[in-house]
Amino acid sequence: MVFAQLCLKQRVLPAIRTLLQVLIKNNKMKVLVIGAGNMGLTYAEGMATSPLLNRRKLRVYDISPERINILKNMDIFDVYDELEACLPQADVVFLAVKPFHCEDLFQKIRPMVNEQQIFVSLMAGVTIEAIQKGLGVKKVVRTMPNLPAQVGKGITSYTEAPEVSRVELLMVRNLLDTTGKSIRVKNENFIDASTGISGSGPAYVFYFMQSMMEAALKMGFSENDSKVLVSQTFEGAVELFNQNSISPNTWMERVASKGGTTRAALDSMEDNNVKELIKDAAYAAFDRAVELGKE
Ligand SMILES: NC(=O)c1ccc[n+]([C@@H]2O[C@H](COP(=O)([O-])OP(=O)(O)OC[C@H]3O[C@@H](n4cnc5c(N)ncnc54)[C@H](OP(=O)(O)O)[C@@H]3O)[C@@H](O)[C@H]2O)c1
Repeated sequence: MVFAQLCLKQRVLPAIRTLLQVLIKNNKMKVLVIGAGNMGLTYAEGMATSPLLNRRKLRVYDISPERINILKNMDIFDVYDELEACLPQADVVFLAVKPFHCEDLFQKIRPMVNEQQIFVSLMAGVTIEAIQKGLGVKKVVRTMPNLPAQVGKGITSYTEAPEVSRVELLMVRNLLDTTGKSIRVKNENFIDASTGISGSGPAYVFYFMQSMMEAALKMGFSENDSKVLVSQTFEGAVELFNQNSISPNTWMERVASKGGTTRAALDSMEDNNVKELIKDAAYAAFDRAVELGKE
């Protein structure tokens, strides 16, 4: 029974996914991104350059005239400076303004939205309920993106209001995946938790990289050599991790022989409680995300 279910899942789900990709590509679905700053533009570019959408289906709106000019010059999607001209026709609307701008935005767009539209929020800390109430709609997907989306290596966690159907959610997922990968989480608490891991996570990696580069400089390497030594070490380690089903702990054991150099480094980290400090940092970001949501 379990085997049969597994086979069904392995065959049917990819087939549904492919079918949806064909549907998105061929139907008249229109996607609008509101707020084309760092994140909104990243998603707009990801969608615009994926085979899923073409420029006639992707629209971008921003409030800033300077930004509008930059966007028009990019010439990869249709750019609008009036919401009336693009919002009512959109099927999926990405909300990518800063959280403190959302109240203004909600007031402005509320008269133009309808209950069939799906709203995908990239805004940190703004709850599904706040978006539903602010806009008078039901179909809302809340996400937590991260910065590597800019290079197609992002990870977006998402969760949805019950009114979003499975098919609609799969469509949204396909759109999110144009910037990397995505995972569906079971509720909004996990959106705040993923802020602590993947949302803020790139900064933890940069912190580690910066520390190693400073050590390399202190040892006498040039700036360029320090950069290459560190970035290639990170890239190589991640590649090893991705290509094998071996835990980081096992990799550490493999690299660190008794009495050797790596063991000395790992012992120093253990003595200084580095692992616990990193966990505390992730929890600090998680707690702050919860707090911001309440403000
Ligand atoms: N950046 C990240 O790494 C990251 C990570 C996770 C989540 N997020 C979320 O992504 C969202 C966007 O962040 P961001 O860093 O991309 O911000 P951003 O660079 O400031 O971009 C927001 C854009 O929206 C414009 N805007 C403001 N009010 C608007 C309105 N009423 N209608 C249309 N456009 C409007 C802004 O114009 P002005 O500049 O003129 O205000 C700006 O161009 C935030 O909610 C944030 O929580 C960002």
